[in-house]
Amino acid sequence: MTTPLRSSMRPFGVSVFSRLTELAIRHRAVNLAQGFPDFAPPPALIAAAEQAMADGLHQYAPSIGYPRLRNALAEHAKSRYGVDYDPDTEITVTAGATEGMWTAATALMEPGDEAIVIEPFYETYPPCVAAAGGVTRFVPTTFPDFRLDLDRIAAIFNSRTRLVFLNTPGNPSGRLLPAADLAVLGRLAERYGAYLVADETYEHITFDGATHLPVAAVPECRDRTVTLSSASKTFSATGWRIGWVCAPPPVTEAVRRVHQFVTFAAASPLQHAVAVMFEEAARTGYFDTLRAEYAQRRSTLLGYLKQTDLELTEPDGAYFVLGRCDGDDVAWCEDLVATRGVAAVPASVFYHHREQGRGLVRFAFCKQLDTLHEAGRRLVGR
Ligand SMILES: Cc1ncc(COP(=O)(O)O)c(C=O)c1O
Repeated sequence: MTTPLRSSMRPFGVSVFSRLTELAIRHRAVNLAQGFPDFAPPPALIAAAEQAMADGLHQYAPSIGYPRLRNALAEHAKSRYGVDYDPDTEITVTAGATEGMWTAATALMEPGDEAIVIEPFYETYPPCVAAAGGVTRFVPTTFPDFRLDLDRIAAIFNSRTRLVFLNTPGNPSGRLLPAADLAVLGRLAERYGAYLVADETYEHITFDGATHLPVAAVPECRDRTVTLSSASKTFSATGWRIGWVCAPPPVTEAVRRVHQFVTFAAASPLQHAVAVMFEEAARTGYFDTLRAEYAQRRSTLLGYLKQTDLELTEPDGAYFVLGRCDGDDVAWCEDLVATRGVAAVPASVFYHHREQGRGLVRFAFCKQLDTLHEAGRRLVGR
């Protein structure tokens, strides 16, 4: 029987990750395809959630999120990035950044409006646009530097352009968007009445002294930016589904009007625990530790990958390494999992124009060092 799925969602098949997971299990592979940690979140986060449950935090939170978490997020944005948000009118807690992007697209797009998506992209952006009745206009960037072609983007902007999805640090590119590019995009958004949807989920994972620049910290962008982030990567808790959307008051109002009918509110005890972690981060040096641990994971994986035939690019942020193989990336990954027992993602799937990403392979290093060493030994055939 054919699925009754609405036509706008039909182009989006079952995610490549499901098929790769199946292959990885069949071949007992080390799974560097999936972008979630194989280690536990910090004990303080778990303890805070347990305490919240013991204290009876089991019922609905306010739809916009607990004041304690919104205050902690405002304080974090101010002290770390110098960005001022009013926790009452500019911050909304959602069920992960994923709900944030869905809700933002639904809240801000009219049917037929356009959204610009930069390739390679996080796979959820185009379905969000489609579900909102919008049309996605893709703009490629290419290996190894993934530089934005601002002229090409400017040429695509028109009176129907409503959203521009930006992702910094980028998955899978590993790139941080530079201030000068963001300023140009901010001016374009202002001119056309569009919004920059800034997915900053990997904001705390950067390397070699690079620091994350929030899109909203660029003066030209502040009033046109909807920032998404979450606890998923920052606290190694992708299953908790705690995220947030920061945006100017009228945009926040629109986001909240939709959010109340999507999930209503994110999980109460988990919101509380994330608030505690943000409150204590400055004292505990949590973010520095996270970054140092990821630097070690990155160099461990790169050490092995450099012994292979792949042409590599070292990421400035996020937790993926991209390599380029000779030939077709899908066939390469299928062969890798079957013959070496390591699962990676054929990165042409992050392109609408598949040929632009042909030969690219993505490895996730959000894994314990033991996992990375085992994968590495298999990759180099030892
Ligand atoms: C770029 C990017 N944005 C968003 C997400 C999902 O975030 P969340 O777990 O907060 O929904 C991911 C997860 O892999 C991601 O890579």
